[in-house]
Amino acid sequence: MKNEKVDVIAIDGPAGSGKSTTARLVAQKLGFTYLDTGAMYRAVTLKSLRQGLDLENEAELSSLVSTTKIELCHSKGRLKITLDDENVTHKLRSQNVNLCVPKVAAMPVVRKWMVRLQHNMGAKGKLVAEGRDIGTVVFPNARLKIYLVASIEARAKRRAKDFFQASSKINLNNVIEELKSRDQIDCTRETAPLRKADDAIELDTTNLTIEQQVDFIVKQWNKNTENQDKM
Ligand code: DC
Repeated sequence: MKNEKVDVIAIDGPAGSGKSTTARLVAQKLGFTYLDTGAMYRAVTLKSLRQGLDLENEAELSSLVSTTKIELCHSKGRLKITLDDENVTHKLRSQNVNLCVPKVAAMPVVRKWMVRLQHNMGAKGKLVAEGRDIGTVVFPNARLKIYLVASIEARAKRRAKDFFQASSKINLNNVIEELKSRDQIDCTRETAPLRKADDAIELDTTNLTIEQQVDFIVKQWNKNTENQDKM
């Protein structure tokens, strides 16, 4: 049925709001599958860069996606992402991919293909999916939708920690500017812009620990399913 709820927890929000770690741990706690849709956009961006494509040329990207295979699998509690059977898990967070992924993710042909892939991956339910359009486009019937937000300073500090752990010369202002520009592209693109679904619960993670975020979502999920059982 069109409005029937599916056993999916949709977690959306801007970069650095804590989606990835939270979604991974919620999935672990509930025994669900974790779907990192950002990694999928990153993988296709990596391939476009390797092939030297014009990232704003829809026709070039269209023929690229028609011959691309992306798979996510879980091994020893870690997520492994393969691109045409190559393990690219550790190649998706380079500065070049960071800069180019919003352009590729804005292309309708890429998004249409991704949503199809993500539906297939979520067909069995029991999924925690995180991204920008999960609650609005990919799984609008998700039983629980969470929209994470945090102050720009908190987000920049988390990003800096994620990406530049080895470097001592991080300029936080540069990270803030990069995040602002990414937000601008993600929120204003024509296809599936980042926005909170009307029925999503907003959670401000600025002053929360990861454990508190995870706890909140797991409790909310248990409450929703208890209510569902009573119906
Ligand atoms: O969450 P992330 O930083 O790994 O996401 C990488 C990029 O992909 C980011 O610019 C937003 C985009 N993205 C998207 O448009 N839709 C999604 N469902 C997930 C990510």
